[in-house]
Amino acid sequence: MRVGVLVSGTGTILEAILEADLPVVLVAADRPCRGLEIARRAGIATELVERSAFGGFGDRFDRERYTRELVKVLEAHRVDLVAMAGFGTIVSKELHDAYPGRILNTHPALLPAFPGWHAVADALEAGVEVTGCTVHLATLETDAGPVLAQEEVPVVPGDTVESLHERIKETERRLYPMTLRRVIEQMDAERGSDANLADRAWR
Ligand code: GRF
Repeated sequence: MRVGVLVSGTGTILEAILEADLPVVLVAADRPCRGLEIARRAGIATELVERSAFGGFGDRFDRERYTRELVKVLEAHRVDLVAMAGFGTIVSKELHDAYPGRILNTHPALLPAFPGWHAVADALEAGVEVTGCTVHLATLETDAGPVLAQEEVPVVPGDTVESLHERIKETERRLYPMTLRRVIEQMDAERGSDANLADRAWR
């Protein structure tokens, strides 16, 4: 099994994935970020597919052309399974067509509660006492795919977005590698690298 990890930020979840010794063959990013440094230091191949070359972050962003380039890069590294770990670009259909049911994501909330990029702030704003994280299959609809694993994290008095997010990420760093390992083992055991994970019940 050959795993490709997509990152945009600090890459602490990527670090946990690498520490878990999962078969990561590529780390790709949509912008220069610490995640790429982590991968380089670990001797993993890296690819920077910069959004700036595809219209940047505004209305001019060409999502389809960007996604096609990303697929090309993943296929060139013969990636079988894609793990998003704090990837800040919503990809288009081309990636889902190339990796049907084989894209995982971790999200810092208990989906379906608080989807979207501001999940931690939204949970804090809503005044919930418990939030958490969700590992799920990524589908075309953002943060809406089948849930593979979920764990609760308490909100404590005085929490800020930063303190709460860090507490959630501590859980993600354990839950995501664990779930990835489970998925990889299942795929290896059952049907090999072209399995569509959406075809089976996970919970
Ligand atoms: C995680 O909370 C992930 O769920 C979210 O972005 C964060 C990534 O953190 N999508 P890091 O860059 O791995 O530290």
